[in-house]
Amino acid sequence: MLKRIDPSQTKAWTQLESKAREMREKHLKDLFAEDPNRFEKMKREHKDLLFDFSKNLIDAESLELLEELFSECGVKEGIQAMLSGEKINETEGRAVLHTALRNFSDEEILVDGQSVNEDIEKVLEQMQDFSDLIISGNWKGYSGKTIKHIVNIGIGGSDLGPLMVYEALKPYHNHLRCHYVSNVDGAHINETLKDLDPEQTLFIIASKTFTTQETMTNARSAREWFLRSNASENDIAKHFVAVSTNREKVIDFGIDPTNMFVFWDWVGGRYSVWSAIGLSLACGLGYKNFEKFLRGAHSMDRHLAEADFKNNIPMQMAALGIWYVNFMGAESEAIIPYDQNMHRFAAYFQQGNMESNGKYIDRNGQKVSYATGPIIWGEPGTNGQHAFFQLMHQGTRFIPADFIGFAESHYTMGDHHLKLLSNFLAQTEALMIGKTKEEVEAEMKAKGSSEEEIAKIAPYRVFEGNRPTTSILGQKSDPESLGALIAAYEHKIFIQGLVWNIYSFDQWGVELGKALANTILPLLSEGGEIDKDASTKGLITYIRNRRGI
Ligand code: F6P
Repeated sequence: MLKRIDPSQTKAWTQLESKAREMREKHLKDLFAEDPNRFEKMKREHKDLLFDFSKNLIDAESLELLEELFSECGVKEGIQAMLSGEKINETEGRAVLHTALRNFSDEEILVDGQSVNEDIEKVLEQMQDFSDLIISGNWKGYSGKTIKHIVNIGIGGSDLGPLMVYEALKPYHNHLRCHYVSNVDGAHINETLKDLDPEQTLFIIASKTFTTQETMTNARSAREWFLRSNASENDIAKHFVAVSTNREKVIDFGIDPTNMFVFWDWVGGRYSVWSAIGLSLACGLGYKNFEKFLRGAHSMDRHLAEADFKNNIPMQMAALGIWYVNFMGAESEAIIPYDQNMHRFAAYFQQGNMESNGKYIDRNGQKVSYATGPIIWGEPGTNGQHAFFQLMHQGTRFIPADFIGFAESHYTMGDHHLKLLSNFLAQTEALMIGKTKEEVEAEMKAKGSSEEEIAKIAPYRVFEGNRPTTSILGQKSDPESLGALIAAYEHKIFIQGLVWNIYSFDQWGVELGKALANTILPLLSEGGEIDKDASTKGLITYIRNRRGI
């Protein structure tokens, strides 16, 4: 079981508070000036990936204190408990074993004393066989044509993971086209299906529970759309498969259980891209690439288990996040990939991070007295530079940011990639060093500005700098690097949850809205007495009037 230590009551916490007061007075420029080897000392490498932590507003002593905090909070023991299949998701009585899904070692992993290795292998084989059939064209639709389009219907973890990875690995796409439908807004399924041919479309209904309103609604609409072609009920088996933990519900929906790909309750929804939820990836990228993706994550799992604090990339990422959130006053973290294909990466970790660590009750059932999970946001660079970077450079918020990029590009046209990379480096440099008043004045003077103009305009052109960033670089965007990178972020989130003394693998906070939506739906469709607060009642009445209910 996980320790239940209030981190704010540890010895390290108090020391970190006073250390932070000291560090708030420092400038990153000075830290580099004091130590010419700062980059060498603070960079970490794993396979192709380089993590440069040196542009963070932190020093060796702060990191030592964070290491002590980790040890007082039982981080190592917590990691061990997760990896060995203990039921650390105590509020749901479940183990947390997404790492087992990408375990390529001989190590046997037990849940309730039973090995899960064989079950995992079986499903991987099933995914391989199925994706081979679809890709080769040996799987035929009801009219004898091959499958061209795959529509994954899911939401949250059953959508964001495969969608993000499919987009990120565009250069690895084969001739199939994968589409992802999540929103219950009919626009999503209608706009997706309007150009597709039912004879050549395969639906993957992806839902851990197979009860999620949005997914079931979209799945039923997809079935109706399919049956509006010349297809009959008997043809459904050739065009609908399911990925779920809930066999009964899959059968109830009318999907042949032989077309079902299972996963297990010890796989959290937002950690399920490694399971059969990745079926669209096996099809759209080819199984070999899907396996490479799993292997990349596995290598990061080994690294997590084996490296000591100082060399452990997820631990360093987690420590920095805690430092900023709990001691330096950060409320959010930006993730900015300089890779257009990674445009859903920040959205993916919005769920990963905010659904995991957006909690205010600790493992003792008490309200926490310190900040937990930050707000995660981000968009690709360079686009962000022309949108929200102004606030990052000169706003009043303190926003640590991760910049992610690759030395080489799959796209060799022109000099796009070097321009992209030079912007990446320029932004992290500018955020760090800023521009002093003296520099601005000298620059304006050299350009012939009058004294009066300089006095008036110079203050607006000053950048304080001292905005921290972590730069993450890889060789070239590929399945292994992406797998390792995602796993590093996953572990960062888990480690932070361990320190914050919260349960990172439940998500009770999403239930209330779902339950209330079920009480509102009949009020909108059938009418009747509205027993709601005045605002909700007024809004329901507005909709009813406009819709003539
Ligand atoms: O509502 C939140 C949530 O339960 C997520 O945790 C999950 O990823 C998503 O809904 C989808 O759930 P399911 O896969 O059961 O349809």
